[in-house]
Amino acid sequence: MFKGGQTLLKAVSRCVGRSNAVKLKRFNNVPKNQFNTASAMADKFKLPTRYGTGEKSVWVEYIQLALDHKPKANLGQGFPNFYPPDHITNALAAAATSKNPLLNQYTRGFGHPRLVNSLAKLYSPLVCQNLNPQTQILVTIGAYEALYTAILGHVDRGDEVIVIEPYFDCYEFMITRAGGTAKYIPLKPVPDPNCGNNLTSANWKLDMQHLESLFNCCTKMIILNTPHNPTGKVFTMEEMQVIACLCQKFNVICLADEVYEWLVFEPKQHVKMATFPGMWERTLTIGSAGKMFSVTGWKTGWLYGPANLIYNCTVVHQNCVYTCLTPIQEAIASTIEYELARFNTPECYLRSLSKELVPKRDYLANALKESGFIPHIPDSGYFMMADWSKLADKIDLSKEKDEYADYRFTKKFAKETSVLTLPPSAFFSKKSKKLGENFARFCFIKQDENLATAAKQMKDWFCSKKLKS
Ligand SMILES: Cc1ncc(COP(=O)(O)O)c(C=O)c1O
Repeated sequence: MFKGGQTLLKAVSRCVGRSNAVKLKRFNNVPKNQFNTASAMADKFKLPTRYGTGEKSVWVEYIQLALDHKPKANLGQGFPNFYPPDHITNALAAAATSKNPLLNQYTRGFGHPRLVNSLAKLYSPLVCQNLNPQTQILVTIGAYEALYTAILGHVDRGDEVIVIEPYFDCYEFMITRAGGTAKYIPLKPVPDPNCGNNLTSANWKLDMQHLESLFNCCTKMIILNTPHNPTGKVFTMEEMQVIACLCQKFNVICLADEVYEWLVFEPKQHVKMATFPGMWERTLTIGSAGKMFSVTGWKTGWLYGPANLIYNCTVVHQNCVYTCLTPIQEAIASTIEYELARFNTPECYLRSLSKELVPKRDYLANALKESGFIPHIPDSGYFMMADWSKLADKIDLSKEKDEYADYRFTKKFAKETSVLTLPPSAFFSKKSKKLGENFARFCFIKQDENLATAAKQMKDWFCSKKLKS
């Protein structure tokens, strides 16, 4: 019965007329049969098998943990908790309220013209190419979608993709959903006898012979994330040269995830794989406005590379996202133009942000040392891996039920100190999770007050443990 005691037929007649309602009534008399049972429905409506079981995500779990525990310092997820400079946010306001109404409407699907033009100006000299903004650049919803288009646009059934671990966790899902197989090789922390406990991200090393053994005729792609998340490693010229040679020998694409390219700390320097001899033709490079301008919520990224590889990515993009947000692209374009005009000055945000991060990094590293951790000082980015194994006898993890020790540690540590961090084993393949278990990942692109709170919470906790022991 419907409103006022009407039958379905009467209610529908009022909307579509009686003769149409009679036709519709026939469709309403669906017999109750085996297809309508809860289990039959659940079976048919389940997640398609290509998505697995909807694998557990460290992000979902730890964002929930932050909501449940409201940590005094959240150094888990990687984003700044301060404003970007005014000229960046003003550019967005100006785009949305511009006299040109079209800046609030759909724009060119493969990248807003002003943005692809400014990206071509920025990157052409950096890759020693005269980038064609129409055919050699694709704008995406964050670097995340850039990864998706590059992987889905190239990896086929039977293809192998070499992944250096720890790795940004979505790589694995994208590769396997494309029908490919991920072949992992871990970076391992190798202590330097001359440096004692002063470890840096450069101590995380690749076994080059192992790397070579992974290349074969099925290898379609290698993903090279330099500067690297979560270690902060900046791959050396020698390491990159070996990778470049192997890519050419086995006819492999290099997917260069360079989202932290502007966050390299002196004296280290970022080197682009696309600039190695013979590599432009086989390299797709990814960047992110979110990381570049401290606006991760703007979710705008891009790929650039040779037109034939970019074309494959555009096909995926066109059938998934089609076009990115116009006012955001306009604002990023005008910000890039603004920064290009002062590129060689210390004020340029592409240079100043990394300098601002160094004292934050050093402050956190000291705080960690004073609280019993061994931090591995990063050469880039805004994450720090810190070894907690010396604290193992100070924290009772027996009530934490997770399989991996770093999950147990980070959860208990958050409860006891109110400082939230992430478990790095999430960024290793099943076989190598052990390599991440002694670490916690700390994010330091936070306001100084937040870092000070974290330092105090950790120090108080450590002192109370020392008193007890
Ligand atoms: C290595 C790496 N690649 C890609 C991304 C995705 O970047 P975006 O936020 O632009 O999608 C991230 C984000 O944290 C990252 O760390």
